[in-house]
Amino acid sequence: MANLLLVGCGGIGTIAALNLQSGGKARVTTVLRSNYDHVKQHGFHIRSLDHGVVESFRPDTIRNAVPNVSEEDIEPYKYVVCTTKNIADIPPSLSDLIRPAVTPGYSVIVLIQNGLNIEKPILDAFPQNIVLSSVSFCGSHEVGTGQIVHEDHDRAFIGAFDNRNLDAQVQKDAAKEFVEIYKTGGKCSPEYQPNVGWTRWRKLLYNACLNSICAVTDLDTGCMQLADGAIDNLVRPAMQEIRAAAKAYGHDLPEELVEAMIRMDPIAMYNPPSMQVDLRKRRYCEFETVVGEPLRAGLARGVPMPVLTVMYHILRAVQWKTKERNGLVTIPEPEDHSVKR
Ligand SMILES: *[C@@H]1O[C@H](CO)[C@@H](O)[C@H](O)[C@H]1NC(C)=O
Repeated sequence: MANLLLVGCGGIGTIAALNLQSGGKARVTTVLRSNYDHVKQHGFHIRSLDHGVVESFRPDTIRNAVPNVSEEDIEPYKYVVCTTKNIADIPPSLSDLIRPAVTPGYSVIVLIQNGLNIEKPILDAFPQNIVLSSVSFCGSHEVGTGQIVHEDHDRAFIGAFDNRNLDAQVQKDAAKEFVEIYKTGGKCSPEYQPNVGWTRWRKLLYNACLNSICAVTDLDTGCMQLADGAIDNLVRPAMQEIRAAAKAYGHDLPEELVEAMIRMDPIAMYNPPSMQVDLRKRRYCEFETVVGEPLRAGLARGVPMPVLTVMYHILRAVQWKTKERNGLVTIPEPEDHSVKR
């Protein structure tokens, strides 16, 4: 059995942990934060379209911090699976977070995360490790402490990010092996997809465009389809910008994908995508990896991206507001002290 650490047990992470553990090919340790005490005592309560109602799911081991493998002298982790949000502009960085658990040259790091270029800082920090990409289409939310509602089948496209220091075949084999471990439980559909770049750009059609525009306007994907001109003048042009940027990197995203992504969520589902949920909860959102990186990539190849440029800078200002609220930036006192901020 593979010794596996999973960092980030929210909606997506918990379903991944459940699928990995039920396959019986991995011994799963999860790192929990705010829900640690609750889950330690009661387990996760999961309502899932694939697993039914699971009254009490307990990962094999539950920790409240990332273990330091060398200090504790525990068995090294073959897999370090990261399902945290990737908030690139807020410390600690993901590589700092997982460093104590990563054994150089041994651990396979799996990023089940959105966005572009997320592997770069990880490969810089762990140049001798295999890093896998998983693009997930699983819909799952933690609706209360330790309460998971899983309402969209766990599909994932898995491949290796290119680590130039390592043999290409070894990296491919590692990706296929992880797919096997993941799918053995029989209740999810992970697929080996070697074209990691294409897969990630494809998901950006949804995330860089629909997700970000829903976040800024606070319209869910259903209302977005109904709102006056929002699809025609914002969403579709943004998606065409992503298609053009992807093309500049050799990834052909067929035109039909644009309509498919726009209509992916049925109107009456009124689905708020992840960044909209984050902003509603006044949390940080992953706009740098989801909008900033593809924007910078496209602009660097001379692709005009006017809509996404504006979206990016609005989200950046919104993120600043969250930082200010959380005390990460300080601002001068108002001149007139009767002014309420
Ligand atoms: C892990 O513990 C060792 C031994 O105490 C220490 O030297 C090392 O800095 C720790 N590693 C990390 C990444 O915190």
